[in-house]
Order: sequence, then C-alpha cells, then structure tokens
Amino acid sequence: MDRSQIVNLAAGPSGLPLPVLLEASQGLLNFEGTGIGITEISHRSPEFAKLTKDLAAILRQHLNIPETHEVLFTQGGGCGQFSAVVLNLLARHRLRFPDLKDEDRVMDYVVTGSWSEKAALEARRLGGGVVNIVTDGRSGSANGKNFDSIPPVDTWRLSERPAFIYYCENETVDGVEFDGHSSTEQGATQFPFHLIPPDPSDPTFLAPLVADYSSSFLSRPIPQLERHALIYAGAQKNIGPSGLTIIIVRKDLLVDTVAAAKLGAAPVPTTFDYAVLAKAGSLYHTPPMFSMYVSLLVLRHFATLGGVPYLAKVNAQKAKKVYAAVKEGEAAGVFRPRVKDGSQSFMNVVFEVLGEGAEARFLASAQSAGLRGVKGHRSVGGIRTSLYNAVTLEQVDLLVEFLRGFIKAEAGSQSA
Ligand SMILES: Cc1ncc(COP(=O)(O)O)c(C=O)c1O
Repeated sequence: MDRSQIVNLAAGPSGLPLPVLLEASQGLLNFEGTGIGITEISHRSPEFAKLTKDLAAILRQHLNIPETHEVLFTQGGGCGQFSAVVLNLLARHRLRFPDLKDEDRVMDYVVTGSWSEKAALEARRLGGGVVNIVTDGRSGSANGKNFDSIPPVDTWRLSERPAFIYYCENETVDGVEFDGHSSTEQGATQFPFHLIPPDPSDPTFLAPLVADYSSSFLSRPIPQLERHALIYAGAQKNIGPSGLTIIIVRKDLLVDTVAAAKLGAAPVPTTFDYAVLAKAGSLYHTPPMFSMYVSLLVLRHFATLGGVPYLAKVNAQKAKKVYAAVKEGEAAGVFRPRVKDGSQSFMNVVFEVLGEGAEARFLASAQSAGLRGVKGHRSVGGIRTSLYNAVTLEQVDLLVEFLRGFIKAEAGSQSA
C-alpha cells in the first residue's frame, strides 16, 4: 500500500511530514555535503556539532525558552526520565538539606493517568524519599478506576516543602490533558501554578516543578514554561523519530551529584546526570544523531508554516472536529467518550464503541478505510485516535467522515 492511502493516527511513534522525510532520505546518503550520511558521520564532527547547536537554538525560538534554562538531548525516553528526575532532584535536595531523614524528603506526584502513575511508582521504587500523591485522577470517575478527568484543584494535597512536584501535561493512554478540550463553557482545568509553594532552600524560586510533555511537546505553547524547573519529552510523537529525549532544565538543577552521593544520596548514573550532559553540550556520549537530524528538519519545516502558534491553531481545529464527531456518536448511542469535558486531550482522543462486537467492526472498517493506529492502549482498550502535529486537517476530515459513516451504519443496524 502507498503511504498516500494511509492516515496514520498512531499514539507514537507517529507520522512525520513528507517533505521532511524526503529531505532526510538525502541526508542519509550525504549529510551537509560531507559525502558521509548522517548515520555514518562522527558525532564530534564540526557539522554535527553545528546541528546540535542549531537544534537547541530552534527549540529555544519555537518555545521561547529563557536563558535560565539549558536544552539537553539524550536517550532513554520518558521512562528513563522517570528515574533521572528522581535521582537528580533528590541529589539537589540532599546538597541543600544534608541532614534530613529520607521520610522528610517528599516528592509530590500529581497522578492524572497511567504515565504519571508509572512515574510515581518508579519514584517509590528508587526510594531516597517518600512519594506524596497530590491527587489521583481516578477518584472522580464513576467506578473509581478510570482516569477520566483532572480533579478539581481545590481537592489537591500538595506538600508544604516538596523536593519537587511532578505532573504529566498530557496522558497519552487515557486521553486526559491539562487545559483540555471542552465542548461546553464550563472551562478546562489548568495547571495551578499559583499553588506551588516557594522552594524552601531559595524563596526566589518555586519548589521545583517537573513536567512530562512527551505527547504534547510543541503542539501548543507551554504555559508558564519559565516556572518549570524541568520539562522533558521524547521526540517520537510530535517532532521526530524515536530515540531522542529533549530536556529543558533550569540551571540550578545542574548539581554535583557526586558530592551529593558522598552525603548519602543515591549515586546518579553518569549518563543520567543533567550536569554532566549540560557540561558536555549533550555530547558526553554518542547522542541519537539521526533522530536529532530529523527533528531539526521537522522544526525548520514547522517554522516555515508559522511555528507553534500555527500548530496550536490547527491542532485545536483538529481536536474540535473529532470531538464533535464523537459527540454525534454519543447522541446516537454508538460512541462514549472516556474523558470528561474540559480534560479531553487535544492529542489523543479516546472513546469506546458501544454494542456487541461493535469495536471489532470499527477496527476492521478503519483498517479497510486506510486508518491506522486507532486501537486503544492495551491497558484500557477502546479506540484512540492521535492527532499529533504531522496529522493534517485533510486527514482529520477523512477520519471524521469515517466516524460519521460508522455512526450511521451502526445506528441504522441498532434501529433495524
Ligand atoms: C506521557 C508519556 N510519558 C512517558 C512515556 C514513555 O516514553 P518512552 O517510551 O519514550 O520511554 C510515554 C510514551 O508513550 C508517554 O506518552
């Protein structure tokens, strides 16, 4: 089958813009006129050193990243960061508060879906501090088991002096997002930056705020980016191939983890050490070069389209169209959205298909219609359509047409 016949709605890795892939195929053969392909050239070559700088610079431009923060490139993905965050931030905490007992080193986790839950579990597993669950998104669901909304912020229980506060901006599996899509005027739940307490060791800062942006990075501006101590994302949803992890880290988080270990903190594996990565300009070890190269091309491509404001506008239009079709399906008794209004992800639209055998019929028809990657995550089931940056409005129109056709056929068979 030709790629022009396919609409790739996968949750990641996901589609990339065609002009970029065509350009990247040339770079595989001959990178920057060196006569050597991007996967063959040294990461210490001047051409690749320039690429690394250019990639950081264009990310700074796209997201208005201030000079207070470093931009790092590494490997290990979001799951690697689940561990790296804990180790680096507890090392920082140890340096500032060497005498505290581990039970007084509190890590605040805002759990709004499967990924933040996993991150909290990893923090608990690594130890060195205790995990406080600030809120659990399942608490507001009908059966207490589904992540289907961001709980109202007045129910959150933040610690007074956390070592850090962690949240996931967009929950890819469950389809729950801060400031999510709302079809009513009730408004969406935004991250409550005003609730973040001051950093106990330095009141000029807030307590370190850490955000997993793996599946919404560059899909719209990052609200209050400068108030975050750390933001990370894998490239493989919105900006490039898998392999690359992007970290935006405030400079005061770049600490001497070896000194912290001497005071009793857990040693940080060198390749996970933010200070080491920063000092080496992300070239401490061989970085994910191909993924960085393609990501740079993607970011340049997005710049020609109008950058993040353009992406935000188009992504909002895409989500609006798909949620409207899901709502029509709900009215017809064919679909049920899994996430409540106001918390619905702009990137991952998650819903159920109602009726005996209906989900299997949906998946088979989607396959014939050229739609790919629409099966929900194995842990929650149902349907998930992911509308990342490379998914075009035209492709979304095809998806909506398919959804409407399916609703009509199912509603017809229900009433027959
Ligand atoms: C929100 C979120 N966080 C973390 C991860 C894990 O990322 P990785 O597979 O890059 O380790 C994912 C993966 O899909 C994700 O969607």
